Amino acid sequence: MAARSAELPQGERLQKVLAVRGWGSRRVCEDMIAAGRVTVNGQVAVLGRRVDVEADSVEVDGVPIGTKPGLVYYLLNKPEGVVTTAHDPQGRPTVVQIVPAEPRVYPVGRLDVGTEGLLLLTNDGDLAHRLAHPSHGVEKEYLAEVSGSPGTGAVRRLRDGVELDDGMTAPAKVSQPSPGVLRITIHEGRNRQVRRMCEAVGHPVQRLVRVRIGPLRDAQLSPGAWRELTQAEVRSLVESAAGDTRPIR
Ligand code: URA
Repeated sequence: MAARSAELPQGERLQKVLAVRGWGSRRVCEDMIAAGRVTVNGQVAVLGRRVDVEADSVEVDGVPIGTKPGLVYYLLNKPEGVVTTAHDPQGRPTVVQIVPAEPRVYPVGRLDVGTEGLLLLTNDGDLAHRLAHPSHGVEKEYLAEVSGSPGTGAVRRLRDGVELDDGMTAPAKVSQPSPGVLRITIHEGRNRQVRRMCEAVGHPVQRLVRVRIGPLRDAQLSPGAWRELTQAEVRSLVESAAGDTRPIR
């Protein structure tokens, strides 16, 4: 593997790869390399090293670069009735009560109390901030059970963009896998967006489930269950927040 990447003149500079994954500025990452803290395929890297991010195994102080020390990433299947806040003045159950209390984590974005499905919680504020920013365009995919059976006109309107009270929605991917069930993929994160879009075309949502966040899916995770992301998932998420939408390897 190392030989293969060494032959690749277009490999990425090691300090850039580290910086993109949140290990510090490029300057800080250069200093880490110069200090001998970074290995590539088990060998201490030198400044100027290029790596093939798909093939090479990179570690800082023996920690794979997919995860920074002390940071945790949980994927929760939020059940209906649980609120996506750290504290609820009305005393309803919250998503942070479902996952471990320490280290303290925060939800990335939010799902309505009535919405089910995948929610990311982390103490990686930098990644959370980047994922929540609409300009990064991380896709979120939903399955919506709606009233009635939308016709081609309604589906086309959802696809093209719907006029809501806070402006036009961006084009969405929309299909109808079975009558009355819409699969809707958006990359904006407006308040109650999917519900308002469906209502605007005359088919109010009866049930809403988020089934994908960028590269993250998990059909096996039951409602109320959570798990840690794998290193490959963290890496893929970081890449998608940086505008790279390649699937998880
Ligand atoms: N769109 C909604 O309408 N509700 C959610 O919880 C998420 C997206």
